[in-house]
Amino acid sequence: MAIAFKQESFRDDFSYRNSPENVSRFPFPFDRDEYMYSVNMEPHVRGRPGTVFENLIDVDEHYVAEMHDRMLVLKEDPLRYQALPHMMSAQWDTLELLMEEQATGYPEHFTLTRNGDEWRWVNRPLGIDDTFTFGDVSTLPCEPFEYITRQAQGDFCIVDQRDGNLWMDAGMVTTQADWSLDFDIGMNFMEWHGPVPLAHQAGVFDRALKFLLNLQQGKPTRRFNWTMTINPRLDTSPENYHKWGPDRTTVTPENVAEKVHLRVELQSLWRLPRSNAILFVIRCYLMNMGELVTVPKWARRMPRVLRTLPPELIDYKGLTRYREDTINWLSKYDDGAPTSPGI
Ligand code: HEM
Repeated sequence: MAIAFKQESFRDDFSYRNSPENVSRFPFPFDRDEYMYSVNMEPHVRGRPGTVFENLIDVDEHYVAEMHDRMLVLKEDPLRYQALPHMMSAQWDTLELLMEEQATGYPEHFTLTRNGDEWRWVNRPLGIDDTFTFGDVSTLPCEPFEYITRQAQGDFCIVDQRDGNLWMDAGMVTTQADWSLDFDIGMNFMEWHGPVPLAHQAGVFDRALKFLLNLQQGKPTRRFNWTMTINPRLDTSPENYHKWGPDRTTVTPENVAEKVHLRVELQSLWRLPRSNAILFVIRCYLMNMGELVTVPKWARRMPRVLRTLPPELIDYKGLTRYREDTINWLSKYDDGAPTSPGI
């Protein structure tokens, strides 16, 4: 079924909202009433229609608006896209993967036609119809990784595998939760995870790295991460902290429903065929508290998770200033009933 793409913004007037259908497919990330970091990885396989797992690369009603926001970010700051020279083969791997997944999942919106190395790519929502030679950069308007990630929701990193480690050697990062590609480019798995509290000591990153070094082609894996954001703003980068940081001081008991957003990242990891690199997809979903409480089991669990969050995570995720107001507002939806694990 064709998706009705919304006209909306993630800045200035913040007109972004979820339709009721989109709320019902929101990937609420908590399977119990408290949260702690873990190696929460599972096979990235297709799931039920009407969920974000229906297709392995998810496209939703926010696609066109998100691509517009990415264009605005890149215009202001071209360094949000970077790829080191040795990543060209991984760039083509990524273009192939994203074109194939989008065309397979959404044939009414995207079509890929191949005739040997001559490919035609049609992207109807963005009005693109391009023919190019796979492997020949001169036949595209920009590098292949930039070309396709200007047409795919979420942020993307390509990590190179060498010396028993993973290296962040390419990225398109315009919708990040307070980290910088320009700062992290060229770092390895332990280095870019340096600022994360508690997880290193718990061995989470040792185990995660070991797992990823053995990731096989054709068997992608996924995990959830989450944080909270004030206003439906996609670009919460350190580069623009001066624009969004002060928003955290604007939350009052009266505006929690509209202003405070749960920000969920559905992260998927894919071994790439020619380069042996790994594509890391960070697909971001935003939902305000007013939308969240329309689902009673989420409304019950959310204040419990916030109330019991370890202080180190409250600080790292930047929730300190508005957590209390948010818990108080949500608490009226928590009737104290026990919740079932896993929902
Ligand atoms: C946070 C990248 C895989 C667990 C982060 C951050 C980055 C990042 C840039 C932000 C760090 C900062 O504050 O500056 C990546 C990349 C991955 C990857 C490129 C793929 C190769 C994983 C995996 C795990 C993981 C497999 C599994 C345990 C975490 C955790 C955080 C984090 C727990 C803190 C998130 C939060 O509390 O908001 N990651 N990561 N990462 N990463 Fe990863």
